[in-house]
Amino acid sequence: MLRARLVPPPDVFAIDPWALEARRYTAELAAEFAGQAETMAALANGHLGIRGVLDEGAPAAEPGVYLNGFYELRPLTYGERAYGFPRCGQSMLSLPDGTPMRLYVEGEPFRLDRAELLSFRRRLDMRAGVLERHVTWRAPRGQRLALRTLRLVSFDDRSLAAIRWELAAEEGAAEIALCSEMVLHPPLPADPDDPRLAEPVPGRRVLCPTGREAAGLRAVLGFATRGSRLVLACGMDHAVEEGADRLAARLECREDFARAEFRGEVAPGRPIRVWKALAYHYDDDSAAAEEVRARAARTLDRAMERGFEGVRERQRLHVARFWERADVEIEGADPRRQQVIRWNLFQLLQASERAEGHGIGARGLTGRTYEGHYFWDTEIYVLPFLVYTNPPMARSVLMFRYRTLDKARARARELRHRGATFPWRTINGDEASAYYAAGTAQYHINADIAYALRKYVEVAGDEEFLLRYGAEILVETARLWRDLGFFSPRRGGRFCINAVTGPDEYAPLVNNNLYTNLMARENLRYAADTVEAMRRRHPDAFAELARRTALGEEEPADWREAAERMYLPWDERLRIHPQDDSFLDKQRWDFAGTPADHYPLLLHYHPLNLYRAQVIKQADTVLAMFLLNGQFTPEEKKRNFDYYDPITTHDSSLSVCIQAIVAAEIGYMTKAMEYFRFAAEMDLSDVGGNMRHGAHIASIGGTWMALTYGFAGMRDGEGRISFRPRLPAEWRLLRFPLTIRGRRLRVEVRHDLTTYRLEAGDALTVFHAGEAVTLTVAAPVAARPTPPLPPEPVPEFPEQPPPAPPEG
Ligand code: BGC
Repeated sequence: MLRARLVPPPDVFAIDPWALEARRYTAELAAEFAGQAETMAALANGHLGIRGVLDEGAPAAEPGVYLNGFYELRPLTYGERAYGFPRCGQSMLSLPDGTPMRLYVEGEPFRLDRAELLSFRRRLDMRAGVLERHVTWRAPRGQRLALRTLRLVSFDDRSLAAIRWELAAEEGAAEIALCSEMVLHPPLPADPDDPRLAEPVPGRRVLCPTGREAAGLRAVLGFATRGSRLVLACGMDHAVEEGADRLAARLECREDFARAEFRGEVAPGRPIRVWKALAYHYDDDSAAAEEVRARAARTLDRAMERGFEGVRERQRLHVARFWERADVEIEGADPRRQQVIRWNLFQLLQASERAEGHGIGARGLTGRTYEGHYFWDTEIYVLPFLVYTNPPMARSVLMFRYRTLDKARARARELRHRGATFPWRTINGDEASAYYAAGTAQYHINADIAYALRKYVEVAGDEEFLLRYGAEILVETARLWRDLGFFSPRRGGRFCINAVTGPDEYAPLVNNNLYTNLMARENLRYAADTVEAMRRRHPDAFAELARRTALGEEEPADWREAAERMYLPWDERLRIHPQDDSFLDKQRWDFAGTPADHYPLLLHYHPLNLYRAQVIKQADTVLAMFLLNGQFTPEEKKRNFDYYDPITTHDSSLSVCIQAIVAAEIGYMTKAMEYFRFAAEMDLSDVGGNMRHGAHIASIGGTWMALTYGFAGMRDGEGRISFRPRLPAEWRLLRFPLTIRGRRLRVEVRHDLTTYRLEAGDALTVFHAGEAVTLTVAAPVAARPTPPLPPEPVPEFPEQPPPAPPEG
C-alpha cells in the first residue's frame, strides 16, 4: 500500500526550486530523521559518494564514504546449497571517512544536538553542486559563535572531495581546537528482518593497512582487501586560509587513522578559515599499493594548487553544463514540485556522472542497501536518461557489461547454457544473488541489456559501438534465449521459456512470463538483424565478430525462428495477456484483509503466501507495454492495465513510475498524476519508508521517464522519436532538452501548443501526434497544437481503493 510520510516535517524545509534547505535542527528531529537527512544531503559524483553526515561527524546515523566498484567478497552461506549457487557475495565497502571536522570550544566538543543553537541552515545547493551549512550558537561561557561549512564531491576531478570550514566569534573570544580526521567507522549492524540491507563483511579487519605517508598537514593512508584484492589510498590535506598566525597545527598519522589538529583563538574580527581536500583512489592491481598512494597525493597536489575557490568554481561550471543538457522545468504546479524534480535529477547526476568503467548501484552512492549492487535498474530505469542527456556515460555503463561479458559466458557454462548469462546483481561481473528464485531466474536482465543497448545505438547514433562491442553482447544473449526456450509440441510448436522470474518478484519460476518472452523476442530479432546487416555492410567487422563468437552460419535464422514462433500468453475470455502461464489460475490476494502496515508484503509474509496469489510486486506486463509499446493494441493496453493495476502493490520502488507512464498513455490522467507524485516523492516523502538507507535511483530515473515518456508522450522505438503530449491539467508548461544523435532538441509542452526547438546540430525530424516535424538550422523552431486531453476512460475490472497521493 502506498504511503507518503513527509520527512522531516514540512516547516523544516524551505521551498526553493534550486536548493533543499533545512532551517531547523533539534535533537528530537535529529533522533528521528538523521538517516533521511544523510541521504538527502549525500554528495556523490558516480565514482565517490559521501553520505550527508554532519560536519562534526556526530551525531550520525549511517556514516559512509563509498567508491563505485570498491568492494570485498564475502562468503554466501546457505542452509542447503545446490549446484550453481554463487559461493561469494560482493559488498560495497564503507571507506575511511575524511569528512569529520570536530570542533572543541574551551575543551568541550561542539555537537549540534547538545549546543544552544541560535540559528541553523543546511542547504544542498543543486546549482552550485555544494552542501553548505551555517550555524550560530551560544557557547557555554556565553560567547556567540558562527560556523560556516561548505562541502563538495568534485565532478571535475572524480577522486576529489573538498570541505571549507570557517569559524567566527560574533561575541566574546574562545579557545578552540579543530580536529580534522580520516577515520574508519565500525561496521553498521545488519537488520535480520530486512533482507534488502547490507550485511557486515565478516572478519576482524576488512581493510588491511598497507602503508602511509604523512608530511605537513597531509596524510595518505593505504589499505588492501583480502578477498577482492583491491588496493585503496585515502588522503587528506589542509590549508589555513585565514588565521594561520593564530593557529598551532600538527598532524598525527597512524596506520588506519589520521588527524590534523589546529589550536588557537577566535575573537570578533579574527575568524579562522581552513579547507581540506580529500582524495580517494583504488586499483585492482594488488601490487600497486604505493603507486595508488602516489595518485592520491597527486590529486591533493592538484587541488591545493587550485585552492578551494578554484575547485568550487570548476564544480559550478560542471553542474551548470549538466542543467543545460538535463533540466526539466515545469510551471503551474505547486512550487515544491519543481524542487522535488530537481532533487531527483540531481541524484541522477550524482549517481552517474563520473561512473566511468562501472555500473550504477541501486542506491547510487548514497547508501549500502543491496550491498551497492548493480541490477537491471541501470539499463531499464537509468539508461534512458543517460542516453538523452549524457550519451558518453550511457556508453560507459554498457561498456561495463561488455567488459564483464566473459564472466557472463562463464556463468552460462556453469548453468549449462549457451551464450552468456549476465548476473542479476553484481559489482565485479560475477553473480552475487543468493536467492535464485528472485535472482538468477530473472533471466530478463539479458534482454534488458540488449534493449538498452539498442536504445543507445539508435538514439545516440553510435554504430561503431554496435559493431565493436554491442553485436557481441547480442550474439551471446540471443544464444542464451535460443538455448533456454524450446519449441513446445503441447503449445503447437511455439517457442516457450520456462522456469523464469519476470520483473514481478512475487511470481517467481513461472513458465512463459509475458515480459520475458516479449523482451527475449526483441533480443533475438535485434541480434539477427544486426548480424545480417553487418554481414552485408561491414564484412570486416562481421568477420571479427564471427571469429570472436564462433558464429555458426545458421544461427541468425535459428534465432529468428524462435522469435517468430515465440509463445505469448493470451486469455480470450478476459481479453488480456496473462502475466504468465499460471497467473490467472491463482487466487486473488486478499487486499481487504491486509492491514496497511503489512506492506511491503515481503517483510510480513512467507514467500509462498505471495507466490500462490494474484498479487504483484511491481509493474511487469505494464512495463512490457511501455517498453514494447508498439506491440500492443490500445484495447489490450487498457484491459491489461485495468486488470493488473488493482493487484499491484508497488512494494518495489520500480513500479509507480511505469504505472504513471502507461496510465497517461491510456488517458487516466488523474491516476498518472497520482503515480507520478509517488515516483517523484519516493525519497523526499519516504514512500517506501527506507530512504534513510539511500536514494532509490531506479525510481528517480523513472521519474524522468514519467515526465518525458509519460507527460510528453515520447516514444523512441526503431530510431523514430515521437511525442504525443498529455500535459496534466494542473501544469502550464513542461520543458526539457534531449540530446539526439549529437543534436540538442528542446521540447516545450503547453496546453495549446507544443514547441520543438533545435538548439544545436544538424537537421532533425521528430514526430508530433503522428505528423513529421523537421527542424533545420535555418528553421530550428516548430510549434504544433497540443492534442486535447480526451475524457478519462472507465476502468474495466473492479478496483482496489486508490492510494492517497503525497501531499503538496
Ligand atoms: C526489485 C528489483 C530491483 C531491486 C533493486 C527489488 O526490490 O524487485 O526489480 O532490481 O529491488 O532495486
